[in-house]
Parts: sequence; C-alpha cells; structure tokens
Amino acid sequence: MRKKIVAGNWKMNKTVGEAVELALAVRDGCSDRSDVDVVVCPPFTALKPVSDVIANSPLKLGAQNMHAEKSGAFTGEISPAMLRDVYCHYVILGHSERRSLFGETDAVVNRKVKAALEHHLIPIVCVGETLEQREAGQTETIVRSQVEDSLEGIGEAVARLVIAYEPVWAIGTGRNATPEQAQEVHHLIREVVRAMCGAAAAQAVRIQYGGSVKPSNARELFAKPDIDGGLIGGASLEAPSFLEIVRAAV
Ligand code: 13P
Repeated sequence: MRKKIVAGNWKMNKTVGEAVELALAVRDGCSDRSDVDVVVCPPFTALKPVSDVIANSPLKLGAQNMHAEKSGAFTGEISPAMLRDVYCHYVILGHSERRSLFGETDAVVNRKVKAALEHHLIPIVCVGETLEQREAGQTETIVRSQVEDSLEGIGEAVARLVIAYEPVWAIGTGRNATPEQAQEVHHLIREVVRAMCGAAAAQAVRIQYGGSVKPSNARELFAKPDIDGGLIGGASLEAPSFLEIVRAAV
C-alpha cells in the first residue's frame, strides 16, 4: 500500500514573513496526519525560515528546483548540498514551467534526478503534455518519452521517487483533468516504470496528479488506484484550501 503524498508548490509567491505564517498554519493543521506525507515547497529565500518552524513536526520541506552540480561557478543556482543543509527532503524537478520558460530538457532533468538521489533528496519529477499535444493524440508518446528520458539509468532507485503527472493545459487554468483522464495517464506511467525498472519499483513509486487540484475535486482524483496524491499550486497558497486537500487524501 503506497502512502499518499500531498505537496504544495508555492512557486514564486510568499515573502519570508508570509511563508512562515503559511507554514505554521499548515504544520498545525496537519499534525494528526501521519497516514499521509505532507510537503511544502517555498521559494528558495524562505526555505531556511520555514525549515526552522516545521522542525520536529511531520510536515516536510521541498525545494522547487536545483542545479545538478555540487558547487562552483554557476551564478544564481542552488546545489543539492545547500538544500540538504536546510533540511529539505524533497525537490521538484522538471516542472513544466522550468521546461517551457527556462529550457530544461529531459537530459537536464535526468542529471538533476541523479544528483538529488546521490544527496538523499527525493525528487518529485514532473511530466505532462501540452493541450496541443493532447489534441493531436500525442499524450502517450510525450509522457512515455519524458518518463523514459528523465529517469534513464536510475534503475530500482525509482522506487524512492515521486513522479508528478501535470498536464500543462490544467496548470493554473482552473481546468483539471477528469479523474478518468488522470488515472489513464498514471497507469501508463506506472507501466513505463515497470518496463524500465521492474515490478517492485513500479508498485512502489508514488505518482501525484497536479493541475488545478482544489478541495472540490481532490477526493475524486485521489480515489483512483494509480493516483497517490497531488502536487498543488494555487490552492496551496492558503492554509484552509491546502489542508482541505490534505484531508481528501485517505
Ligand atoms: P495549479 O494547482 O495552480 O494548477 O498548479 C499546479 C502546479 O503546477 C503544481 O506544481
């Protein structure tokens, strides 16, 4: 039985003060939920202050990106060791905004996934098709190649990963995939992992759905057999809506 995981991707939102306030409210609101992993992913500037206030609570910390190298002349970048230093457990990699706005390719994502695992960070690897690709009937081809190329060479360690299926057309649009559409792609992702890394890894890997998850649709999405929780954008920016989504994960 896979433990569900609900993560809030705060994207480029929240000053330090706002982030600490939100983290405290989330921490206090989910302290009784040891049956689900709850993660908050603030912007870099708020990682350390949020880490301090959620220390010794079940709430876990994630970053939204990182560089694959350990250190060096990479102006503006953050290394895996720096994330470990502030007690990050998770790191979102290959989010569609990173792919479309900052040119991240599957090869770049693959290097980052390997670096994250080496540093004992759990990658949340994002994949998903655009509206154009879905309408052209290319969803399966696109998602399959993103999974294969992003996870190339990872082997059985895939069992430790989280994969987030985030159809680009559903991100921030208010238009979520139906539970059936999402389940279909989640099942496909698990089959791709099975072919690449074996049955045990496929059974263990957690696959989150992301894209306009709200309190009103979370329960139905999370009830599907291959949907192991959610990666939440807009609805994670306020504690009440995020906590209601956490409550939908049973
Ligand atoms: P929204 O929940 O705002 O659609 O964002 C989803 C997302 O991109 C999470 O990473």
